[in-house]
Amino acid sequence: MASVRSPTVREGIHCGSPALPYGRASDTKANGYCIESLPDREIASCSGACYHPNFHMPAVAHSITSERVHEQFANAGRVLVLTGAGVSAESGVPTFRGGGNTAVWKGVPFEVISSARMLERDLPAVWEWFNYRRELLAALKPNPAHEAISRWQDKFSELTLVTQNIDGLHQAAGSRHVIELHGNIWRARCFDCGARHDVRELMFDQGVPSCFDCGGHLRPDVVLFGEMLPAGAFERAAAAAQQCDLCFVVGTSAVVYPAASIPEIARSAGAYVVEVNPERTPLSDLCHEVITGNAGEILPLLCQKPDR
Ligand code: OAD
Repeated sequence: MASVRSPTVREGIHCGSPALPYGRASDTKANGYCIESLPDREIASCSGACYHPNFHMPAVAHSITSERVHEQFANAGRVLVLTGAGVSAESGVPTFRGGGNTAVWKGVPFEVISSARMLERDLPAVWEWFNYRRELLAALKPNPAHEAISRWQDKFSELTLVTQNIDGLHQAAGSRHVIELHGNIWRARCFDCGARHDVRELMFDQGVPSCFDCGGHLRPDVVLFGEMLPAGAFERAAAAAQQCDLCFVVGTSAVVYPAASIPEIARSAGAYVVEVNPERTPLSDLCHEVITGNAGEILPLLCQKPDR
């Protein structure tokens, strides 16, 4: 298993190349947490298909949520939820992996186009990829999974929501204080002055947009492969994981670190860990319960009484 705190990246998504056309160094030294993926799930095998559409399992039955989960849910005080692309799948957001597929963009594996190295080599191509994703996301709305998690804020004494998603749908559903491990696609950041700008309303057709303050080049305010997580984000998530009673792992393939280490931390600290996913993941064996199915169908059921 990958080290959860390694400041290095796995072979194939190395980030240490010299500055190229746009001459921009990426954020590789901001703090100690650099994203990497498990080597056995590397993407070399992906075909020429594009960013693949969602896949969904058939509807799930009520009985899938066990009495034990309901008991944990009813009695927990501190709860941590880690989400991944799957929580947004029922909103229409394509996942990166899952259903036997891995995303590619114009023949380039997404872990390459979404990398610190690509930022240095070809910033316009990175913007093109993110503009494509921004267009896909612009019209999408939160689904019952986002809404259920948002309601949990009022149910538990402490709810920590940690997401790998950059789509902003948790916030759109009403979740507050979301820990965004991988940034947010609706923000851009200036290479020169560091200013962050809300770019939700702006569509950049081509090229590289300029900073509204200083005129420098903007980049998407997201974490790329080979870059560090936003300062303090992982630390806050890990601290909450150490203290939670109940941890949900929802809609993530659990192959990207350090995000995937959060449920491991929770489990080691004694939390009850529940996974919600149509597929098994490398974390499934660590979980106390694995609920197989779609988040938008399962999460709303947790507030209801279990079938006898
Ligand atoms: P992935 O695309 O790797 O995994 C999506 C997971 O969601 C898979 O395990 C699916 O089985 C599951 N899934 C699909 N539909 C679902 C549904 N309706 N309900 C619940 N689960 C469902 O997405 P992540 O694990 O989020 O990082 O990927 C982690 C990171 O890899 C992303 O944040 C992104 C990517 O590279 C960066 O770009 C930095």
